Amino acid sequence: GELAQALAMYIIDKIKKNPNVRVRDPAALQAKLQQIIRDGYDKLLVISDFDFTLSRYKDNTGQRCLTTHGVFDDCTKELYPKLAEELGILVKKYIPIEFCPNMSVEEKTPHMEDWWRTSHQKIVENKFTYEQIEEFVSRARLYLRDAAVEFIRSVEAHNVPLVLFSAGIGNIIEIILKKALGHVPHTLHVISNLMEFDDNNVCVNFTEPLIHTFCKNSSVITGERPFFHHVRNRTNVILLGDSLGDINMDVGIENEGTSLKIGFLNFDFDNLLPRYTEVYDIVIIDSQTMELPLEIFRFCG
Ligand code: TMP
Repeated sequence: GELAQALAMYIIDKIKKNPNVRVRDPAALQAKLQQIIRDGYDKLLVISDFDFTLSRYKDNTGQRCLTTHGVFDDCTKELYPKLAEELGILVKKYIPIEFCPNMSVEEKTPHMEDWWRTSHQKIVENKFTYEQIEEFVSRARLYLRDAAVEFIRSVEAHNVPLVLFSAGIGNIIEIILKKALGHVPHTLHVISNLMEFDDNNVCVNFTEPLIHTFCKNSSVITGERPFFHHVRNRTNVILLGDSLGDINMDVGIENEGTSLKIGFLNFDFDNLLPRYTEVYDIVIIDSQTMELPLEIFRFCG
């Protein structure tokens, strides 16, 4: 108990000195940290978003990076200009809806379903092979955050399940992790949109249910119930996200312990910070490193 308290206070002290990090309620954060540290790795589950959470929002030159879907908008420009153009038009049409402050989630949802469905359909129409997609990914401006590899390695080394809950494309996540780590972590469980391939390795379909920004919660984890039941003895959660839709990724899971939520705020800092500090225990502002989540995780044993 005393050691957990000392470690939690140490982390909070470090956070207070970091100008890129905000905490609304240090006392509540301390209580959560203490419980997670005291209960240890055996009771812990990590649930994380991928795009702009494990992956970078900006590269070292300050240029915007790509989401997993963005690989198809960007890397196809020379050989598949029609696809790149069509996907670009969709982004311009739907991003303002995704982030519109005056629309409810209920109002946004049908538009997001249209976006994802149309986008997947256009990708499938081009009959890409798995090898072509690997080639696109290798050329894409899509990188893991600094210290992300160390974070994932540490989670795997302590046998803590890592759930990646992504409205992006799961196959692309796996290609990136395989390349960065040399293997797919044995404790990894991806809940995402998956491309399905035929006997000739050609992408012919995306899996259902479709996962978009606003349905990252229990409504789409039906097929995952056996997995979450299997990890139900893991009562504490560290949740990592970058959008307001990510805070519900632990909803519907049977865990009853504490949930520590860490949010990356990537843009529009002044407008979004108040909302982010309301829903996330820790907000990391305009920073491309996972050092803080890594440090917290390392104390959890
Ligand atoms: P996520 O970070 O919650 O997993 O959301 C994935 C992001 O992907 C979301 O902000 C919208 C974006 N997206 C594209 O950039 N292109 C697309 O074609 C689609 C369907 C989504």
